[in-house]
Parts: sequence; C-alpha cells; structure tokens
Amino acid sequence: MTPFPERVFSGIQPTGNLHLGNYLGAIVKFVALQKTHECLFCVVDLHAITVPQEPNELRAAIRKIAAAYIASGVDPVKNIIFNQSQVAEHAELAWVFNCVARMGWLNRMTQFKEKAGKDRENASIGLFAYPTLMAADILLYRATHVPVGEDQKQHIELARDIAQKFNNDFAESIAANGHEGGFFPLPEPLIQGPAARVMNLRDGLKKMSKSDPSEYSRISLSDDSDTIAQKVRKAKTDPEPLPTDKDGLSGRPEAENLIGIYAALNDSTTEAVLQQFGGAQFSAFKQQLVDLAVAKLGPIGAEMRRLEQDSAYIDSVLRDGSQRARAIAGPIMNQVKDILGLIR
Ligand code: AMP
Ligand code: TRP
Repeated sequence: MTPFPERVFSGIQPTGNLHLGNYLGAIVKFVALQKTHECLFCVVDLHAITVPQEPNELRAAIRKIAAAYIASGVDPVKNIIFNQSQVAEHAELAWVFNCVARMGWLNRMTQFKEKAGKDRENASIGLFAYPTLMAADILLYRATHVPVGEDQKQHIELARDIAQKFNNDFAESIAANGHEGGFFPLPEPLIQGPAARVMNLRDGLKKMSKSDPSEYSRISLSDDSDTIAQKVRKAKTDPEPLPTDKDGLSGRPEAENLIGIYAALNDSTTEAVLQQFGGAQFSAFKQQLVDLAVAKLGPIGAEMRRLEQDSAYIDSVLRDGSQRARAIAGPIMNQVKDILGLIR
C-alpha cells in the first residue's frame, strides 16, 4: 500500500507534428484518467531544447500541444495543463536528481543512444540528462501514475530508481523532517492497451515517430480526412487475409499494427476486432479503418486548427495551469531543500 494519494502526470514534447502514436499511446489515456484522477498534463518544452529548436517554431509547437490536449477532450479547468518552463522547480529538482542518478544508469538509456546517434561527443549534456529532468517532472508532484507509450518505460523505471535512491540516501533526514514511508512515491507507468506501440505505416518493424522523413509513415492529428484516407490506403500490408485470432498475427507486424490501431480507436480489443474482421481482405478492412479514423480524428484536427488561431486563449490556459502547478510544486521543492540541508 502506498501512502501517497494517487496523482497522474504526463508530458509530451513540443517537437514536430503530433501523430497517431502520441494520440493512442498517450492522449487517449489522459482523456480517460481525468475522470478518476487528479491530473497534470505538461508540455515539456525544456525537453525539446535538448536538441536545436527554432524559437518561433518552438513557440508555435508549445501552443499546438496544448491545443491538442484540449481538442482531444482534456478539460483545462478540471486538470492542470501547463508548460514545463513556466514552473522553475522542474529545472531545480532535475539538478538535485543529477546528483542522485549515476552515470551508469543514464549510460543505459536507449533513447539517448538513438537520439545521439554516432556522434555522441557532440550531443548536448541536456540530451544525456533528459531522463533526470523527466524524473523531476513526475516526482515534483509526487505523482504515482504516468500514462505513456511503451517507448517511455525505461525512463519511468529510471524515475523509480531515482525516487528509491533519494528515499534511501536521505532516509534519516526524511524521517527527521516528519515524512513516513519515504519522501517520493515510486511512480508506475500506465502502458497497457492495443496501441502502446503504434508502428510506422510503411514498415511494421519501426515505431511511428515524428522524425521519420516520410509523411506516409504516420497519421498526424492535423491531417484532413482525405489525407488520412490516402495514408491508410497506402499503408503496407501482406497478401494474406486477416487472421481470426491473435496467434495468426505473429510474424505479420503490419497486420498487427493496423488491427491494434482499429482496436484502440474503437476503444475495443485486438481479439474483438479479429472476431469481426478475421478472414476479410485488407482492402475491406482498410475502408472500415478509414471511416473510423476519420470519424475519430477529423473533429480533433478541426478543433486544434480553431484553437491554434486563438493563441491568447491557449496562453491563458498555460499561465493558469502553471500557477496551479507551482502551488503544488513549491512546497514539495521546499521540503526537498529541507531534507538535503539547503537553507531557504
Ligand atoms: P513524444 O512525442 O516523444 O514526447 O511522446 C509523447 C507520448 O507519446 C509519450 O507518452 C510516448 O510514449 C508516446 N508515443 C510516441 N510515439 C509512440 C508510438 N509510436 N506508439 C505509442 N505511443 C507513442
Ligand atoms: N520523455 C517523454 C517522451 O519523449 C516526454 C516526457 C517528459 C514525459 N517528461 C515526462 C512523459 C514526464 C511522462 C512524464 O515522450
């Protein structure tokens, strides 16, 4: 039993266009969790600047993520929607965690290896330390649950390791400061579901990502109906009809991906979708997938475009959210300082 009240935190980087993987892997879960939990949804702009960004594009991208949250159905009154850089405590706690985490832990992070590529010597220190900032995002609010896609699992595990080490290293001071059962919770990832890892539409072995050069590899939240239809029709498949059960999907990554997407969009399961479409040809299934995707994503894209015209409104949501986030973060950061022995 955790002594910590349940609280949800998640974040998305303001880089590139949001795609179906972001939507199904993360945002759909945000929309569901707001019904049962206290939630903070962050636009992690400090994570974005771990690689070069053009200032005007970054500003627009921050607003775009906030617009996507709202357009998808996250209520900015009930939940806290904000951008990371407006709450200085994120960077402050990240520094503390840089002193808790070990080089060896960060050296194992696969996302750093992917993003840094061959030229590691030339990667920013921020890109290397990215996971300690992410741990700070979560633990600054003592959040207990983190809805993310599969690719973030390793980072959440690192956040748990940091929380654990902080609790151990400072156990005496934590107790002396009146906290029972450790200071930080060990946050749990919420990953399950048929779209925890949405794959590239042109190659079922690669994950759908913002950075793939081909627009046909992903469906973007801002795509209009015709574009969505075209991308689904061009999506790679194999020559066999669809199988009737899950075992029949093994070794057929493209089929598995499209079925998973359909299931997630329809709030259903892979099994149920296979029951419905088992034995069907891809062409028939794709038509149904187009109809479903257009029905679900079309209104979100339209609302995003409308909200993006109203930057004054978006900025006011972010300001209000940041203020509410600071009200939670400030006292927790003060307690961290007391535990560490820093004078405030
Ligand atoms: P990012 O755009 O990297 O900030 O990712 C934002 C959220 O989307 C995170 O929770 C990711 O795990 C999730 N995500 C990104 N790509 C995918 C994908 N292909 N499938 C499922 N979830 C994803
Ligand atoms: N690293 C996450 C991603 O690339 C984004 C992120 C930053 C995040 N801070 C977070 C996600 C805190 C969940 C919780 O997708």
